[in-house]
Amino acid sequence: MMNKEYEKLKKAYDCIREKTDFVPDVALILGSGLGALADEIQSEAIVDYKEIEGFPQSTVQGHKGRFVFGHIGDVKVVIMQGRVHYYEGYAMTDVVMPTRLMGMMGAKVLFLTNAAGGSNPDFNAGDFMLIRDQIMSFVPNPLIGPNIDELGTRFPDMSDLYSAQLRSIIRETAEGLGIDLKEGVYVQFTGPSFETPTEVRMASMLGGDAVGMSTAVEAVAGHHMGMQVCGISCISNKAAGLSETPLTHAEVQETADRVAPFFRELVKASIREIGKNL
Ligand code: HPA
Repeated sequence: MMNKEYEKLKKAYDCIREKTDFVPDVALILGSGLGALADEIQSEAIVDYKEIEGFPQSTVQGHKGRFVFGHIGDVKVVIMQGRVHYYEGYAMTDVVMPTRLMGMMGAKVLFLTNAAGGSNPDFNAGDFMLIRDQIMSFVPNPLIGPNIDELGTRFPDMSDLYSAQLRSIIRETAEGLGIDLKEGVYVQFTGPSFETPTEVRMASMLGGDAVGMSTAVEAVAGHHMGMQVCGISCISNKAAGLSETPLTHAEVQETADRVAPFFRELVKASIREIGKNL
């Protein structure tokens, strides 16, 4: 008997394949404030999430939710414009469904981006952080449930979750562009409330440098099915307790908007370089 979750993925995959036969090399997930990158590329196909059977639909009104297919340089990419968050109320298997679909479409590399709070006191709003590793222990593991053997093994290794090779390419790309790139550990919380100052201190004591509400579960789901994973956080604010002012989504958005052009350049240039090594 086929795994139920895999059956659902196959149905969704078939819906996408009815619309496009595009086979991407790289899957890119865009975080808050970074969605404009998808509007900058010449798209060869677009599939709205609402056209895909069984796909989790965003509860946020007016949010773009779609896969954009096209090229960055010579590299074939599928971009998720609008991601699915656990705090919206979906099962974690639904949260990682889009990631898995991009892997099934053929993407070998999963490039994750997000806006995050800096729990490392040396980080400032507007910094970029290359993700070296992560802590996902505060949210349910997306692989809980019957293992999908068609995708990967029951007990996947996580010792090189964020590919050392991709990290070195991104580091060199940032250097070439003259963009300062911090490096650190991403900690995922469920949200939607921001963390308390004590939770931020905890994250920091555990070795975390940035806190957010996405990404880590996508990294695990992507790695499970054999994708090479990399990620960059845009530090949109100092995390709770490290700044004088209360946190607002508007602040997150404002910072992301301010530095987004640099962020987009870094992501696009990194993908062009990654493409040379595929
Ligand atoms: N905490 C969690 N998620 C976030 C933050 C934060 O401070 N900033 C942007 N996303």
